[in-house]
Amino acid sequence: MAVLKIRTYPDKFLKQPTKPLDNIDGQTQKMIDDMAETMYQAPGVGLAAIQAGFDQSVIVYDIAPRDEKRVLNVLINPRIIAHEGSVLSENEGCLSVPDFRADVKRYAQVLVEGVDRDGNPLRIEADGFLSVVLQHEIDHLNGTLFIDRVSALKRQLYNRHLKKKMKKS
Ligand code: NI
Repeated sequence: MAVLKIRTYPDKFLKQPTKPLDNIDGQTQKMIDDMAETMYQAPGVGLAAIQAGFDQSVIVYDIAPRDEKRVLNVLINPRIIAHEGSVLSENEGCLSVPDFRADVKRYAQVLVEGVDRDGNPLRIEADGFLSVVLQHEIDHLNGTLFIDRVSALKRQLYNRHLKKKMKKS
């Protein structure tokens, strides 16, 4: 397993919609293992393949508390097929948008379908934190970052912060 480089905003690669995966092979399994290792090492609660440089429709996530046993979840070709209500996801963050946190409006509940790493169909009814994580990661697969969902002013401030940071390094 290997820790992969996480692409960060404003990398254009992150803006492209990913391709559905129709053949789960050994290479897919290696990608998933490397994505998981990258997520745990970061550490983060979720990672989409596009963040690690693969334009494929795959996400991994683990929302188990840090001190508890790891529960890796893999979702291939996930789609939100139904949603209900809305909620303010407070202080959301993303490994591809370092040093930035913001409140984001999200659906309160989602129904997600996809397949697991063995190709078995999955159907997940989620609310609370899991619902937010799934929406955030599925957004990545559609080329959307959570910073695209905040106000233009907040985005401008972050862009300024990035410029300063680049000058320093
Ligand atoms: Ni993210």
